[in-house]
Amino acid sequence: MPWVKIGSKEGLADEFKGLSSVDQKRLLPRGALPINILDIDELEATLNGVTGICPGKSGIKKEVVALEGYYPPKFGIWATHRLYRVIYTVEEARMYVIAKQMTKRDGDKEFWALFYRFYDEPYMPVPYYFLYDSRLEREFKEVFGYFWMQYIEHDINFEEYLLNWTIGKIDRLEFYNLGDLLRLLWSKGVKHNDLKGEHLLLKGDRWHLIDFEKFKHLKNPKDREDDLSILIGDSTLFLDGYMRFHRIEFEGEIKKRYEEFVRAVLGEFGIDIRQNPHFKTFLGVIRSHGIRESAVFK
Ligand SMILES: Nc1ncnc2c1ncn2[C@@H]1O[C@H](COP(=O)(O)OP(=O)(O)O)[C@@H](O)[C@H]1O
Ligand SMILES: [Mg+2]
Repeated sequence: MPWVKIGSKEGLADEFKGLSSVDQKRLLPRGALPINILDIDELEATLNGVTGICPGKSGIKKEVVALEGYYPPKFGIWATHRLYRVIYTVEEARMYVIAKQMTKRDGDKEFWALFYRFYDEPYMPVPYYFLYDSRLEREFKEVFGYFWMQYIEHDINFEEYLLNWTIGKIDRLEFYNLGDLLRLLWSKGVKHNDLKGEHLLLKGDRWHLIDFEKFKHLKNPKDREDDLSILIGDSTLFLDGYMRFHRIEFEGEIKKRYEEFVRAVLGEFGIDIRQNPHFKTFLGVIRSHGIRESAVFK
């Protein structure tokens, strides 16, 4: 986890077959058009036939090793992600590429942001291609395409980082390039608009930002406040879920560390989110009284 092998040249993977049908549905696309992602040969033909869909020298065959689906490791949250990781080889070198199933509107939107706003910037995935067959619209009501982009290798995401810090698995709190990354985002006139902890991925000492399909054009300073509210609010919700699941009390060192974290993030930007409506919505669903109190820094 979080990647579960779905299939390979040998057929459906045992990991996938072993899942309950409800969990299989989390991974399997509904109406997997325009390519059948489960057919590895078809996937390989697409990888080789469509220029620019993934890295590799032209004329050199890409061999698909396996297809994996994203399986979110959440506590009691039933989430579906139409996101795949294709493992392939080019001259023996093992490579990964992300294929994200999206509607035309969302795919075009995410492509626009990644291509026209962040193409030359590090720490955001390189967009390769949005593969969409509009001819299918004549026959089908709901047509999806696949957004192909760079796979960002990472060790942890922001909500896991907050959790690890809070429960003492990390000794020193470091934000590395987080401030620069978010300032860059905003300076390009983009409000991420879905800045959950799972969209910030840490590799070594660099944060990367993904999932731009909900972005909006940044219009006023409140937009930055909204982004930070979602980041802190959603990551706190994850912490709340973890604490509940493991029956851990929110007190002492844990409480101190959580407060330090939130203060440090907000201090970096000089932004107060306590009155933000998005943040208040998050507070409303956090079950732990202690966390709710700490989140508003009493
Ligand atoms: N380019 C990428 N590199 C590495 N992991 C990714 C990438 N894109 C998505 N993921 C992983 O898949 C998850 C779901 O992808 P996301 O783009 O957020 O799709 P959704 O719209 O379903 O939320 C992310 O939280 C992240 O863990
Ligand atoms: Mg997402």
